[in-house]
Amino acid sequence: MKFFIDTADLAQIKEAQDLGVLDGVTTNPSLMAKVGIQGKEAVMKHYVDICNISTGDVSAEVISTDYEGIIREGEELAKLHKQIVVKVPMIKDGIRAIKYFSSKGIRTNCTLVFSAGQALLAAKAGATYVSPFIGRLDDVSVDGLNLIEEIRVIYDNYGFRTQILAASVRHPMHIIECAKIGADVATCPLSAITALLKHPLTDNGLAQFLVDAKKFA
Ligand code: G3P
Repeated sequence: MKFFIDTADLAQIKEAQDLGVLDGVTTNPSLMAKVGIQGKEAVMKHYVDICNISTGDVSAEVISTDYEGIIREGEELAKLHKQIVVKVPMIKDGIRAIKYFSSKGIRTNCTLVFSAGQALLAAKAGATYVSPFIGRLDDVSVDGLNLIEEIRVIYDNYGFRTQILAASVRHPMHIIECAKIGADVATCPLSAITALLKHPLTDNGLAQFLVDAKKFA
């Protein structure tokens, strides 16, 4: 399973990249706003900065919601850097735009996916990635991981090549369950990735090894 980091924070992206396990980055308008990026020029520069830190795919989201606007924005974003994947919302004009981008060889990430039917449409339109938001489903008492399972079955039934990118991941158990189900990618906050490192028996074991090592040093 690929690990993407879900942030626009350059320091966090660098930290994950330096760990050596990062396969890409996802952003969205809320994450860009969170790091204080404002105005088109600053946003475009920030995407390039992210591409220069990460070696993997970088999802950059369009703001337009009409077909022509999505195409215009997506083409502009795609031209910024070869690592850019155009993130398009799961709406009617978004699906049409994904079909267009797919015919032009522009890679896409269909975002704000909350049902298996939406994921099926995204795959049929030729999306490179589909982003089911598992944490936000959990927030409303719907099992987000169950959606990943449903999409896995559907995509495997028909050999769809669209990659399942589990999004809105909140904690390490989400990551582990996604890996068990067979999600292609999990995009996670840095805290969830680094939480995978932790185990008290590792800490205790290492402390004891270091104590014992002093006995023969
Ligand atoms: O990738 C989508 C993600 O950023 C949404 O996460 O935590 O805002 O639900 P969250």
